[in-house]
Amino acid sequence: MSMQLLDGKATAASIKSELAEAVAKRKASGMKVPHLAAVLIGEDGGSVTYVNAKVKSCEEIGFESSLLRYDASITEEELLKVVQDLNENDQIDGFIVQLPLPAHIDENKVTMAIDPSKDVDGFHPVNIGKMVLGLPCFLPATPAGIVELLKRYSIETSGKHCVVLGRSTIVGTPVSIMLSRNSNPGNCTVTLAHSRTENLKEVCKSADILIAAIGKPDFVTSDMVKPGAVIIDVGTTRVDDATKKAGWRLKGDVKFDEVKDICGAITPVPGGVGPMTIASLMINTLRAMELNGK
Ligand code: GUN
Repeated sequence: MSMQLLDGKATAASIKSELAEAVAKRKASGMKVPHLAAVLIGEDGGSVTYVNAKVKSCEEIGFESSLLRYDASITEEELLKVVQDLNENDQIDGFIVQLPLPAHIDENKVTMAIDPSKDVDGFHPVNIGKMVLGLPCFLPATPAGIVELLKRYSIETSGKHCVVLGRSTIVGTPVSIMLSRNSNPGNCTVTLAHSRTENLKEVCKSADILIAAIGKPDFVTSDMVKPGAVIIDVGTTRVDDATKKAGWRLKGDVKFDEVKDICGAITPVPGGVGPMTIASLMINTLRAMELNGK
């Protein structure tokens, strides 16, 4: 059976060129271009890389962007003030506060302070509630990127058994809801598996679509995969690699080298879900501007 590589990098590049075209048209007719702000606290290597990639994507497609960096010692009160200022700033269409935050700051409190109409991460309870109800909202970027990738590769999801590994609030839980709803892609029978799931190998092996989002490198091995299954690898753990300039590389949750010979389709790491996440954030930012009537 020939395996299909689900190329998130190339798919994200075409989404971004579609967005660039839309922005160029707006600009040509004298209209405002979308403006995304990103708040980055501290020096966490992963967060710095992700936020830089988001800012770079804005530049590539003609969005305006603002990067607001603060020391890890910022107080919760100060950060809440930053959020409030962004809520009130008419120039900013949407913004994100990169997670994780330092331990002394309550992430939920910060997320709930964001104006839902500017919450392009889709993390605010209002947006999550709307997502559950199937109402128009900002969808969280990683799940939205996964669904868009399945769509653009015309992968049949209706009636399929989708196993989601990991119940995080930003990936596992929302993607399990999105794929179970009556939509296309969607209409899956979803199993949300996690650290307490019994017979995990068997559960994974029964999946037509397996979404691995637990952050444990090489966790999914070939004996957990049904022949022909579609594998979506959300893992992005940094591992030491002296052959790389940075001294590290990203490793997914799936043992790619052995799973690739069994599955029907698979996302690589890097170049799979990561670029799709950023593309989804850009889609949300354009929508934020349109929804706010600009
Ligand atoms: N940390 C890991 N993923 C994300 C994301 O999609 N958005 C934000 N704000 N923080 C993250």
